[in-house]
Amino acid sequence: MQIPDRLPQHVSFIMDGNGRWAQARGKERVQGHFEGVESVRAVMEASVEWGIPYVSFFAFSEENWGRPEEEVRTLMELMGRAMLAELDNFRRHDIRFIVLGNRARLSDALNADIDRAMADTAANRRLTMVLFLSYSGRWDILQAAEKMAHDLIDHPGQRPRPEDMERYLVTAGIPDPDLLIRTSGEKRISNYLLWQTAYTEFVFTDTLWPDFRREAYLKALEEFASRDRRFGKIK
Ligand code: IPE
Ligand code: IPE
Ligand code: MG
Repeated sequence: MQIPDRLPQHVSFIMDGNGRWAQARGKERVQGHFEGVESVRAVMEASVEWGIPYVSFFAFSEENWGRPEEEVRTLMELMGRAMLAELDNFRRHDIRFIVLGNRARLSDALNADIDRAMADTAANRRLTMVLFLSYSGRWDILQAAEKMAHDLIDHPGQRPRPEDMERYLVTAGIPDPDLLIRTSGEKRISNYLLWQTAYTEFVFTDTLWPDFRREAYLKALEEFASRDRRFGKIK
């Protein structure tokens, strides 16, 4: 396998199609989520190997709370378990692990696991893995606007610039994604990173998330390498 020369610094994934993957096999939807964890592992392993410094995953949206209670519970349990099971790997591969989202909605037990995983990996530097949990783009922009408005009260007459927003978003300090990959054939953003994807390249693939492994990842990276990014300018 030939790795493209021009690699993104930050690849983000909307991991979609777990339910359909399971249904197509006559299994329960949650089986698709279990198999999806293996895809996260495969993507992480390849990212470490290929030297991609930021990799992020949309794991659970604010809207996903509206799913049946049983599925939500299983997903939350799975998340906590998978996270702790990866701690050894994070250590071995020098991976910093971060969870971003509306953590007030998560259970105390899950928040404790998240705190532990984040504290344990805080000094790691080779790759930053971000899990977006109970996240939505509009929620992020709103909480940022609220904080910014609060700061501006003390500075009347000061007008915020777009670049001032960055440090209020929950993604402060993390570069915007260069590449966003959505699996399962859906071609929408589903309230994911809205502010941060202003100049992101999008790749949509029909592959369902549990089938998205190294080969599919490499194909998306090749597609990215062939794109001409102009950022509004003329080349
Ligand atoms: C993505 O798979 C996982 C989450 C959104 C939590 P889905 O569960 O959305 O799978 P489909 O889209 O129903 O197939
Ligand atoms: C997007 O998938 C959210 C995550 C992958 C976590 P959904 O399956 O929730 O999105 P819609 O409902 O098809 O837009
Ligand atoms: Mg879906």
